[in-house]
Amino acid sequence: MNRAKHIAIVMDGNGRWAELQGKKRVKGHEAGAKVVKKITTYCVNHEDIERLTLYAFSTENWKRPRLEVEFLMKLLEKYLKNELPSYLEHNIRFEPIGDIRAFSKSLQKTIKDVKEKTAHCDGLVQSLALNYGAHDEILRAINKIKTSSDNITEAMLSNALDCKHNVDLLIRTGGDHRLSNFLLWQSAYAELFFCDTLWPDFDTKDLEQIIKKFTKIERRFGGLK
Ligand code: IPE
Ligand code: IPE
Ligand code: MG
Repeated sequence: MNRAKHIAIVMDGNGRWAELQGKKRVKGHEAGAKVVKKITTYCVNHEDIERLTLYAFSTENWKRPRLEVEFLMKLLEKYLKNELPSYLEHNIRFEPIGDIRAFSKSLQKTIKDVKEKTAHCDGLVQSLALNYGAHDEILRAINKIKTSSDNITEAMLSNALDCKHNVDLLIRTGGDHRLSNFLLWQSAYAELFFCDTLWPDFDTKDLEQIIKKFTKIERRFGGLK
């Protein structure tokens, strides 16, 4: 049986969820934040899961209307500040990935603060992808190591990435079948699950069902059974 040690999720569909109810798109992001908490708590209590990486803001999401971007930044800051006691209570280590230098000083400080204050936690690692794009991550990694060696090895590149851990199970909610620049290197052998449910409606039962299917897949990694 496979173990879903590292689960990565493209949390998509917040805007459509809100629009379907005649609400503003940002209401979907608010509802989506509650699901982040619910799914994280589920993962804390699941013995197989060591790492949960959630796509929260992509390098491409800056193209959205200014007000939506500003709302997302405020929501993120509020979420992290509110959740810090819960991270500590549940022994969750917060490890952001992505280039946070593009964020306001205040948001950067909050992100670093939660990271530092939970650095000793050795339970679930919750990794939020913030101003994350796999192309940007790979380029930053290459630029970090290019002077140290003529011959860049797979291990060197992997170690220079923000996320150094291969993904076992990658889920995208919201009905689209694409990766949108998420964890391209780390998902080389991930099992991919796409579901139509919009992120604010995604439930622990949905995750449970996906994990159940995942455990039974024959993962060959290019070899034979
Ligand atoms: C995902 O939901 C959240 C972010 C990208 C921040 P969307 O906002 O993309 O929702 P849809 O896909 O437009 O419904
Ligand atoms: C992917 O969703 C990014 C996040 C969930 C943060 P998008 O809604 O931005 O992706 P596209 O534009 O549909 O590919
Ligand atoms: Mg979307």
